[in-house]
Amino acid sequence: MNENRVGYLEHEGVMITEVNSVISSTPPGIFVDATYGYGSHFRNIEQNFPDLDLLAFDRDIEVLNNSYSNIINLKFSQISNYFIDNNIDSISGILYDFGVSSHQLDNHLRGFSYSNDGPLDMRMNQNDDTNAYDVVNSFEEYKIADILFQNSGEKNSRRIAKDIVSSRPIESTQELVNVIKSSIGKQNPKYISQTIKRCFQSFRIYVNDELNEIQESLNQIKNFVKSNGVIVCLTYHSLEDKIVKRIFNELTTSCYCDVSIPVCTCKNEQLYVYGKKKKIYPSDLEISKNPRASSATLRYVIKL
Ligand SMILES: C[S@@+](CC[C@H](N)C(=O)[O-])C[C@H]1O[C@@H](n2cnc3c(N)ncnc32)[C@H](O)[C@@H]1O
Repeated sequence: MNENRVGYLEHEGVMITEVNSVISSTPPGIFVDATYGYGSHFRNIEQNFPDLDLLAFDRDIEVLNNSYSNIINLKFSQISNYFIDNNIDSISGILYDFGVSSHQLDNHLRGFSYSNDGPLDMRMNQNDDTNAYDVVNSFEEYKIADILFQNSGEKNSRRIAKDIVSSRPIESTQELVNVIKSSIGKQNPKYISQTIKRCFQSFRIYVNDELNEIQESLNQIKNFVKSNGVIVCLTYHSLEDKIVKRIFNELTTSCYCDVSIPVCTCKNEQLYVYGKKKKIYPSDLEISKNPRASSATLRYVIKL
């Protein structure tokens, strides 16, 4: 347990009321918190849903040192293997609260934040091999440009990648911020800060392979949820949401055949229905209290 713990416990989980409403009809059994973080969702579910047996995962080792509960230190793409190894054949539901936690962002030593100086790390699990320093200081220019463009659509990706390569070695988050700033030149301050935010987010997504993680985990977990159970996803940017939406659309589709064909030949099996087809947004009140919630959206599907 370390001294950061108080910081962990004071954070509010995002869209708690909406999550509670979505899981209120979940059948009893194992409910998975795939992204324990600082445990707000976990504690909320524990208090309000005594019929659910909670099982929590997080890839960040620091989370384990800061938690009262037993957290399993695995990536969520490894949860289904964990189930197989532990003879768990069905769950009542699962909650994913994607992205980085406020605690990770606030700790400058983790290198996620562009507001405080720190080492170029950005690994959610400090035992992972590649960190942001390796990417920024040793990847080829075209690869850095691809990372920036593919993970945030950054329009200045080529120019920024070129300037990163010519400014090496870049030792810290503030040095990286300065390279990005000088690369885009004199601009409106909001544009500058959004560009820096996009670049940091792109490196973070790459370092943690975040988009593949979501895709792999959802594709595996769909087979473990019992009838009337739920998959609930909180996303924070459009790339996360796009993956969730595509997979949820697949899970809720009954037939892929052309409408002109009278008999179904695709033999697709619909596994889920949408709880609500449209994504759900946090309330204005929540956003006013917790700015991190402003980019959140919730989607969920229910197993047939
Ligand atoms: C937004 S925070 C979760 C906050 C949490 N719901 C709460 O109420 O305190 C996201 C957490 O997910 C973890 N995480 C991100 N990607 C992960 C992955 N692929 N597998 C497991 N944990 C992951 C991060 O380490 C972080 O602690």
